[in-house]
Amino acid sequence: MKQIRIQGNNLLTGKISIGGAKNSAVALVPASLLSDDVVTIDNIPNISDIEALNEILQYLGAKVTRENNKMIIDSTNIVNKEIPEEVSKKLRASYYFMSALLGKYKHVEMYFPGGCSIGARPIDQTLKGFKALGAEVIEKDNKFIINAKELVGNTVKLDMPSVGATINTLLVAVKAKGKTTIENAAKEPEIVNVADFLNNMGAKVTGAGTSTITIEGVEKLGKCHIDVIPDRIEAGTYIVLGALIGKNLKIENIIPEHLENLLTKLKNMNADIEIGENYINISAKEELNPIDVQTLGYPGFPTDLQQPLVTLLTQCNGISNLEETIYENRFQNIPYLNEMGANIEINGKSIKINGPSKLVGKEVKATDLRAGACLILAGLKADGETVVTNVEHVLRGYENIIEKLTNVGAKINLEEV
Ligand code: EPU
Repeated sequence: MKQIRIQGNNLLTGKISIGGAKNSAVALVPASLLSDDVVTIDNIPNISDIEALNEILQYLGAKVTRENNKMIIDSTNIVNKEIPEEVSKKLRASYYFMSALLGKYKHVEMYFPGGCSIGARPIDQTLKGFKALGAEVIEKDNKFIINAKELVGNTVKLDMPSVGATINTLLVAVKAKGKTTIENAAKEPEIVNVADFLNNMGAKVTGAGTSTITIEGVEKLGKCHIDVIPDRIEAGTYIVLGALIGKNLKIENIIPEHLENLLTKLKNMNADIEIGENYINISAKEELNPIDVQTLGYPGFPTDLQQPLVTLLTQCNGISNLEETIYENRFQNIPYLNEMGANIEINGKSIKINGPSKLVGKEVKATDLRAGACLILAGLKADGETVVTNVEHVLRGYENIIEKLTNVGAKINLEEV
């Protein structure tokens, strides 16, 4: 087990450079299987979710070469075999192998994916996409056996703009016969990154980033290169940190348009922020206005940033209200924040944050990835020592977090217990 120990309340100053987006990279790596040639993915983040996917790739027989942040994948000799349940359970994105293998071989057997325990997270919309394109799905003891005589393009109208179902449908449709239209598609920048990757291989995808995506199936996909886009959630987390306890903290290598909703909220709070072309400079301020926030799919306020943001809301002068509309169980960080001195009431899907509160160091637990980020931010602001346990969750999604924070003056250590 790993834990993080923090001596809090030091002003953080300097630069933090943002890595490649976790939620793009975890789709690009499985999608590479669709190519009949070698593909190169650059700006891969150094996170444990990528190691888990790399393990699956190698298990299937792909040749993977790593050079710094580059991953060169040759899957010309892979074998379409069942991925063991304990491996697919490690992360949500394992189900992108389900669609990539189905798209390539018209047959796949796989277990229900894992991922943070933040809600029910069913995969009915992914299965709806598979079925619309001609696949038959048999579900048995947590396992899916999926077969298609032929994959044929169709119109798939998603019940909600699910990121996973949009990408999974896309991965099956690129080699299906004829035209597929995904309606009510998710619009996240990570989906555009995946569509660009597939188009670089020779696919014909248009409309990614809007709610209607059209795919003309092609027979073969080839050699290509892609850069993973900067991680807007990692960037947003450190921007929030800057507003909490930064002094000219520069967050660089970002795409500010991908963070527009967070930046608007920070302006409403009257935060001290300078927005550059590919960076943001931010400093903490005594007087911050409270705000109201509702999480929504992109371009709305991202659910993945609401937990880190709550730490900052504990420092605003007055009552902030936050509604989580995407997941049913994404407030597991709140009792721990309250133990650290926050004053937050949970009421179903909403929380009311009464600020400002003085935070003090405590031992707290990272119940999931972004809850862990929230508590690390709280520890960096708090007086005294904070220990965040179960930080394996955090290492799944924040690359080199200890080094990045140490470099800007944080007193933070990773411990094995
Ligand atoms: N949903 C269904 N049925 C489905 C699919 C989704 O009911 O078949 C529901 C989910 O239960 C949820 C909502 O629709 O309430 C949105 O789910 P979505 O499918 O969009 O989420 P996801 O693809 O499972 C990805 C990210 C999450 C991020 C969400 C929303 C990956 C690997 N994960 O999850 O990232 O919160 O999109 O943006 O891309 C994180 O990074 O901390 C994280 C949880």
